[in-house]
Amino acid sequence: MSDARFEPVAAAFRPDATGRTVRVRGWVQKVRSSGGILFLLVRDRSGTVQITGRRDRLGDAGFDAAEHVQVEGVVDAEGTVVDDPRSPGGRELRATALRVVDAGAPFPIFQEQTEEFRLDKRHLVIRSPEHVATFRVKAELLRALREFLAQEEVLEMTPPILTGNPAEGGAEAFSIDYFGRPGYLSQTAQLYLEALLAPHERVYALTPSFRAEKSRTPRHLTEYQHLEVELAWYDLEGLVDFVERMVAHACRTLAERSAAELTLLGRPPAELAAIRPPFPRLSYAEAIDRLRAKGLSVSWGTDLATAEERALTLEERLPLFVTRFPRELKAFYMRRTPDDPRTVEAADLLAPEGYGEMVGASCRETDLDALVARLREIGAQVEDYDWYLDLRRYGNVPHAGFGLGIERLLRWMLRREHIRETTPFPRTPSRHTP
Ligand code: 4AD
Ligand code: MG
Repeated sequence: MSDARFEPVAAAFRPDATGRTVRVRGWVQKVRSSGGILFLLVRDRSGTVQITGRRDRLGDAGFDAAEHVQVEGVVDAEGTVVDDPRSPGGRELRATALRVVDAGAPFPIFQEQTEEFRLDKRHLVIRSPEHVATFRVKAELLRALREFLAQEEVLEMTPPILTGNPAEGGAEAFSIDYFGRPGYLSQTAQLYLEALLAPHERVYALTPSFRAEKSRTPRHLTEYQHLEVELAWYDLEGLVDFVERMVAHACRTLAERSAAELTLLGRPPAELAAIRPPFPRLSYAEAIDRLRAKGLSVSWGTDLATAEERALTLEERLPLFVTRFPRELKAFYMRRTPDDPRTVEAADLLAPEGYGEMVGASCRETDLDALVARLREIGAQVEDYDWYLDLRRYGNVPHAGFGLGIERLLRWMLRREHIRETTPFPRTPSRHTP
């Protein structure tokens, strides 16, 4: 039940609010008293407001109770909105009544604590202004992406998370005991989205993906939010164009709707508004040449790891597509480039400034024999993929798709040092609590 008598604290900052009586409630950020006046800074979902209260107005009992509220304790207050240049935002609420909802225990979070301690107390740390701003931006990002996909007539699907075959390579899948049979946590929804393509032609899923990589890097999580799109009749050119428009739409939308949060987090909204197509494109072969020219010891077949991606994008302002990778570096389902069988029709989108891969995209192999041969080459059990191979037997059409790591995209957008800052309860090799 919501209570209509209460207003969000932002109501105190509306242009016509001065002189009005409002009733608000929220979490105390700061409390002090001086000369019989109490000063409380109170946060709710809409922002913060200073509430002041006089002892002679609130009474001794009320005043003393409010004075002992801890940081993150909770109050509700009724008062008059007054302009006062000394108050944060130039306004305050002069309380006529103040009630303590929860005085709270002393809040255990301080700035100078170690990162480990702060991760142990993550359930409390996420109330910090930076985390509040980050997860608001993330919510807007997910909304913007879903809006874009709806405009493009791509339907949201709900693939399973519990699966019987790992899709992106067995070594990195979390295995589970599925009633005595082997099971895995999904690494990708791709194979299921490909199955849903025949009836719907354009589908997507926004689901958690799991990677059992022991990579302790600032860009790996073991659980992340994965946006995956699968499009019938698309070729690589069309796919790259789609990804580019989607990422640019998300950047522009956040610059408009999340300007305050971006500013608080140190990312000028204008920088995101400037992310517009076309993004530069480079073939893998060109990327290798460019890296060698920069003095890196790489050759055809070297995977682009953190150092290489960094060297390619350090001075870029826009995201960069790298296309046509050697097939040995990529997954079994990618289509060989018709005029260059050493490579597959894949494109990775790398974030500027060394933030790394945000999107992995490819055309899918539609030739049944080529797929079976490739599965044998990588040592997979072909029988495990029989249901997937059926898709090549019944109403097989050219198609392409991609996966975008939401936290990777957000890390770059917000220029966070570590990917864990883009998710409230990060899952990494060393931690799956709280
Ligand atoms: O490149 P990946 O492994 O591609 C796939 O899984 C495809 N089957 C997707 C598809 O085409 N439907 O992963 C896609 C993206 C990466 O580009 C990256 O952004 C993100 O998922 N990602 C991770 N994000 C955080 N932590 C990790 N450990 C990640 N691994 C991949
Ligand atoms: Mg990839």
